Amino acid sequence: SVPVLTIDGPSGSGKGTISRLVAEHLGWRLLDSGALYRAVGYAAGAAGLDISDAEAVTRCAQTTKIQFRAAPHDGETRVIVNGHDATDELRTETAGAAASAIASIPSVRKALVDLQLSFRKSPGLVADGRDMGTVIFPDAPYKVFLTASAAERAKRRYKQLKEKGLSVTLATLQSEIEARDTRDASRAVAPLKPARDAVLVDTTGMGIEDVVAKVLAVVNP
Ligand code: CDP
Repeated sequence: SVPVLTIDGPSGSGKGTISRLVAEHLGWRLLDSGALYRAVGYAAGAAGLDISDAEAVTRCAQTTKIQFRAAPHDGETRVIVNGHDATDELRTETAGAAASAIASIPSVRKALVDLQLSFRKSPGLVADGRDMGTVIFPDAPYKVFLTASAAERAKRRYKQLKEKGLSVTLATLQSEIEARDTRDASRAVAPLKPARDAVLVDTTGMGIEDVVAKVLAVVNP
């Protein structure tokens, strides 16, 4: 069957960047599963839904059209939600918190399973998320779990948001990220945790190239 490399981990562990670079290097497809949860959270907000109304949000997850479009120049993939380019809105920590809230609803997660499985196409898939190795692709031959200290993760995310021109303070961001991580790790469905057979990589103090090399070594030892 088509090989999958799952890359799971908490916010700011570097998953997004590392997954993209590793997928490019291998020539494999990329699934940014977090973008799906962000898109549903965004669509629910745009429709004025009450985020705690599980039935309404589940219907929203079932009907929201999410498309990924490779941008020709800066290479950043655009995320189109119900025909609207929502890439900029999806980046904010507000969207991250909304994603985390709706991601704790089991029927919402179920609604996104088939879409995620459909990314598994030849020659291979790099799947970035929280439950890629544990729930969505438990049979993946290659699994990585990325971590980093909470302080370092907050700093990385801070730098990223600053570069995109978003105004945030490090202290606020760190407490928001910690709240999200706690919720992601303690929820009843698909809590954030390494798969039993995942290779743990602590990226604290490591440069991007070194992390990419470590992850590639899992696929090609
Ligand atoms: O980039 P960052 O790691 O901060 O966030 P993300 O990967 O875009 O995910 C946003 C939120 O979606 C997370 O906090 C999770 O609650 C949720 N999520 C999930 O439940 N399962 C996934 N496979 C991916 C994301």
